[in-house]
Amino acid sequence: MTNQSNILVIGGTGKTGRKVVEGLKQHHQNVRVGGRSSDPAFDWGDPTTWPNALAGMDKVYIVYYPDLAVPGAFEAISGLIEAAKVAGIKKVVLLSGKGEKEAERCEQVVANSGLDYTLVRASWFNQNFSESFLLDPILAGHVALPMPHAKIPFVDTRDIAEVVVKALLEDEHNGKTYEITGPRTLTFEEVVQEIAAGTGKDITFQAVSMEDYNSAMKAAGLPADYIWLIDYLFREVLSNDKNQEISSDVERILGRKATDFQEYIREMVRVGVWR
Ligand SMILES: NC(=O)c1ccc[n+]([C@@H]2O[C@H](COP(=O)([O-])OP(=O)(O)OC[C@H]3O[C@@H](n4cnc5c(N)ncnc54)[C@H](OP(=O)(O)O)[C@@H]3O)[C@@H](O)[C@H]2O)c1
Repeated sequence: MTNQSNILVIGGTGKTGRKVVEGLKQHHQNVRVGGRSSDPAFDWGDPTTWPNALAGMDKVYIVYYPDLAVPGAFEAISGLIEAAKVAGIKKVVLLSGKGEKEAERCEQVVANSGLDYTLVRASWFNQNFSESFLLDPILAGHVALPMPHAKIPFVDTRDIAEVVVKALLEDEHNGKTYEITGPRTLTFEEVVQEIAAGTGKDITFQAVSMEDYNSAMKAAGLPADYIWLIDYLFREVLSNDKNQEISSDVERILGRKATDFQEYIREMVRVGVWR
């Protein structure tokens, strides 16, 4: 059996964090969820909450919200790492975005911290279509998105979580940077076609320009910093050919193939998320 550690999972109610919490509990680890409604609370916007959340912990899984690329993320990660050292944390695993140059500054803070660490760079999540901003268009039966030619190696959050759990529990992952992708690339149109076929729903896809997409977000009353981030994620991550590459890290680390988008669709149909 793995030695028992005390592990803080920041973002432990989110898309990967929730599954990391479950996985660690299956390995009989002592888990503390780091979130705004946890006790003690952890709030990225309030550094005074960090010492209490870190107290008594050995390891931390860091999910920064909303994204390591946003202004202020570097300062927040730097501050958290300092607080982690004071609290006697031994190891951190950082969730990062594959192909986000701004996120690499935050990765460097972790890599240069002197703590044991693993960097987990993930491509766009499958779960953006079931737990995030791409769910509503799927439910509405009309998906209008920019970057229609981008081939995206969507990854399942279950695979990310399993990698994170191993990284937290096994020393062999110390000092490593992993690139976590799904097993094949899909364009947005292909995603829509596969979800339509899997659900039997009529869902149409429309390619729009980045400018029109931004205008639509603005017209919908979305905040300017949110629009900035979505624009960044489309332009920076999806326009870079390198981000279309498929990594074999999931298979290498987990000893099984990465979850295919079809398997994700079957699971979502089973739980009824697109009904
Ligand atoms: N989505 C993707 O496709 C993708 C791809 C690659 C990397 N990533 C990375 O994944 C990370 C999370 O992204 P996500 O959008 O998928 O979100 P998510 O993990 O589902 O995030 C929501 C989590 O963030 C927590 N949270 C929100 N505001 C917080 C605050 N002020 N203080 C503390 N916790 C807060 C929420 O906890 P409470 O509500 O309980 O406080 C919840 O657990 C980002 O760093 C992003 O760069 C995402």
